[in-house]
Amino acid sequence: MISFDFSNVLKANIGGEFGLSPNFPDEYNEIIRKGYLKIENGRGEYPYHFMELPYESHDEVRRFSDILGKYKNFVVVGIGGSALGAYALFNALKHQYHNLISDRRVFFIDNSDPATILNVFDVVDLKNTLFNIITKSGSTAETMSAFSLIFNILKEHNLPFHEHLVVTTDREKGDLVRIAGEYNLHTFTIPEGVGGRYSLFTPVGLLPALYMGIDLDALLEGAKYVDAYWRRTPAEENPIAVSALVNYLYHTAYSRNILALMCYKDALRGMGLWYQQLWAESLGKKYDLDSNLVETGATPVVLRGATDQHSLLQLFMEGPNDKLFVFFEIKDPDRDRRFQIGSLKKYKSLAYFDDKSSHDLISAEMSGVKYALAFNGKPNYTVSLESLDAYHLGALIYALELQTVFTSTLYNVNPFDQPGVEEGKKATYAIMGREGYDEKRKEMQDNIKENLSMEIPSKTK
Ligand code: PA5
Repeated sequence: MISFDFSNVLKANIGGEFGLSPNFPDEYNEIIRKGYLKIENGRGEYPYHFMELPYESHDEVRRFSDILGKYKNFVVVGIGGSALGAYALFNALKHQYHNLISDRRVFFIDNSDPATILNVFDVVDLKNTLFNIITKSGSTAETMSAFSLIFNILKEHNLPFHEHLVVTTDREKGDLVRIAGEYNLHTFTIPEGVGGRYSLFTPVGLLPALYMGIDLDALLEGAKYVDAYWRRTPAEENPIAVSALVNYLYHTAYSRNILALMCYKDALRGMGLWYQQLWAESLGKKYDLDSNLVETGATPVVLRGATDQHSLLQLFMEGPNDKLFVFFEIKDPDRDRRFQIGSLKKYKSLAYFDDKSSHDLISAEMSGVKYALAFNGKPNYTVSLESLDAYHLGALIYALELQTVFTSTLYNVNPFDQPGVEEGKKATYAIMGREGYDEKRKEMQDNIKENLSMEIPSKTK
């Protein structure tokens, strides 16, 4: 269902200096078994609740199906872990031009850029629109500010709030749950022990997925299948743990500071963005669990194959050897078409396509790049999904969650907190004058000691 090809991290293929021996998982079995045990011992405990999510019934979401059916537009309002999961599902499982061909359109307000928010109002008919406000903390600036604009616009149009707003938030924390109480808004709860980026299999991802018509059972079945596989497979034989080990080793032992996520399928780009956030927020840490200053984490970057072969590949091939490349592909494409070259065969630039397909071409491009990277001593491995459907996507998403948490055991960092993100949030609150952030504002003012700015002035009239 998901295969991992590690050939291009082996010495024989990329050279002795940076290559691993074929039995590298066994060489490291002590540390990977320890990490595996840590996770399995954590199962069922806070904050490992994300591992229970595939097994939960999610009835509160399913029961909402008929209500969702009344709306022609569904707007996801959230940021980071509160939006990327739904976007990954939408991008992977819906048509690229979904909103042009469907009468159930989906929009994302996932930034505080005013145009991103206001442009939505230009294209939706408010009477037929449901806004899903998603924030675990119930107080994130981007989401709460967008909520306030939506609230006012609904008010201006005399539309009942409870018919156009549903919220997904914490059971108790934050203002949003209280606002929902005051205005009688339907509220979905994010379980206490599940952080934003691990919340795809909660109402955060499942409610938008239900609206999109995605098969929730298949999605959760895929995750459960991977969980069962993980439980019964020793760490050193388990590609989830072994891929984590490869990522960790190349970062820490060979200074591959960049994890280049090469998505050779446009429908996997959203998953790439989701994984990028999961990896970065979970593993990019200043301190380890013993409070040592470590400032660690490889930087994940999402790339688009084959397009970026004509953009970044030159740098990748000949620039600094500071990357580990992870290729993502779908083996059996959801759609494909053969080239029939016919009368154009006399042209050499076309003749060789004859009777091959679009999928053959993008696969050949990917294989060519993998080979060329390996030949130049650049490590890479490939994650192949058998096909692109809810079941396989649920499996991949859950596997990447396990892989990320497992990697945290190798780094000895906490994968569930995000103090760096919280710092950014506090600074925004301080600048915007939120109550309780005066001290932070003062600290910021005191710490900016000098300014340097330059300008190309506008043309003088
Ligand atoms: O993964 C995380 O915890 C973060 O990316 C959050 O999802 C993000 O900061 C948004 O937070 P909230 O859901 O509280 O609005």
